[in-house]
Amino acid sequence: MTRALALSSGTIAALVVMGVVDLFAIVFGLSFVRGRRAQRAAEAGPGITLPGGPAAKPAPRPVSRREFFRRSLVSSLLVFGAQFGGATIAFLWPNLKGGFGSIINAGKLSDIKSFIDSNSQPFYYGAGRFYIVPWNGHPSGNVNYVTEGVTTQGIMPLYQRCVHLGCRVPFCQQSQWFECPCHGSKYNYAGEYQLGPAPRGLDRFKVTVTDAGDVMVDTSQILLGPPRGTNTIDEPPQGPFCVAPG
Ligand code: FES
Repeated sequence: MTRALALSSGTIAALVVMGVVDLFAIVFGLSFVRGRRAQRAAEAGPGITLPGGPAAKPAPRPVSRREFFRRSLVSSLLVFGAQFGGATIAFLWPNLKGGFGSIINAGKLSDIKSFIDSNSQPFYYGAGRFYIVPWNGHPSGNVNYVTEGVTTQGIMPLYQRCVHLGCRVPFCQQSQWFECPCHGSKYNYAGEYQLGPAPRGLDRFKVTVTDAGDVMVDTSQILLGPPRGTNTIDEPPQGPFCVAPG
């Protein structure tokens, strides 16, 4: 990874802001100096012709006050545009350096599985906004979604966002289901719809495991979760719910 890519988005934004402020100061200063110079030349009178010599250059047309303010306004608009562009780049920067929206290395497969087993909960990767759950279910009917690269070597990444209205869905340790605190939608350990107003199961991401054992989750594309009625693991709640059914 290059040094530039290693910079944080905050640093990039700060550098861009400093740059545009400097640019504004330079443009503003130059306009002011040129205006003053032109005014002085106008006060000194027309150019003088020396005997035998070339005619002196006529003084440049003085910049009126209105012209000066108009140029200042244009400069301000340019600076604003540069700031807006810089802020946009800073906002999108995480996508270029391994954040949500890119292919993310979530860690070693063995470490992730060991975490899941010893904690009885999914592996959560906040920067990528996904959970990794164990999955050894059995697709039935036309649930081809599970064969489209969203699961490999017994794991599957789930997008943390509730498919109802977008709240983050936490995992309930008691029930071993995902339970949305906003309107009570519930999903089993495989992210499949069980209860509440959600229209389908949790969305997923594609996943691969490299030869070195790194789990690579592709968050650049959100794959729609399975339809209601899909249940590949047949696992009822293991205890009381964390969120009352909606
Ligand atoms: S946002 Fe999750 S149930 Fe409404």
